[in-house]
Amino acid sequence: MQYSQKVLDHFMHPKNVGKMENPDATATEGSPACGDQVTVYLKVDESSHKIEDISFLSYGCASNIATASIITELAKGKTLDEAKQITWRDAMEALDGLPPVKVHCSVLAADTLQTAISNYEIAHGLKEIPNFGKETIIEELRKIIYPQVGEDIISLKMVKYVGFTDGKVLIDLNIPSFDTWRENVAEEIREHLEKYSEVKDIQINFP
Ligand code: FES
Repeated sequence: MQYSQKVLDHFMHPKNVGKMENPDATATEGSPACGDQVTVYLKVDESSHKIEDISFLSYGCASNIATASIITELAKGKTLDEAKQITWRDAMEALDGLPPVKVHCSVLAADTLQTAISNYEIAHGLKEIPNFGKETIIEELRKIIYPQVGEDIISLKMVKYVGFTDGKVLIDLNIPSFDTWRENVAEEIREHLEKYSEVKDIQINFP
């Protein structure tokens, strides 16, 4: 697999790695695509809302370590509002790209950072626990990467319809039967949505 020099540098010499004592917020997320995990720890200045310190622990592949490392570098010193703008695309760009089958690793790192920020904001009364709805489902679908090209399935217009009624999620995917990644994508969608207690049933339809 072809990695950029930056990915290799961050894998061999990760920045901000290690467990933080007494963090103000933390989050652990797993990638349904591979089962790997990342934990992010935050120290936040209460008045300026700046991320004073950030660290991570990785339980995963080389890209998992490299993307978690770069995401901590991108977030350090930023305000929470600024850090909320950091996406997996920023992490990819900062690393000079990732092979398509490894793009989900950057999604995991960015997602874990965003969850840690959200956990801080909820714990400090800066935001309310969001209601689950169609928007939440679409946000989750944005995190699902079609491994052949390394893009998310919303950007690739693979999602034709999303519905949510009485605990039932209905998703129409525009992926033909000859596509060998089809089941893989559907499985990942299920794993992303099953973690929500509001979701009782998931129906995924194909053409
Ligand atoms: Fe699992 Fe990279 S995070 S393969």
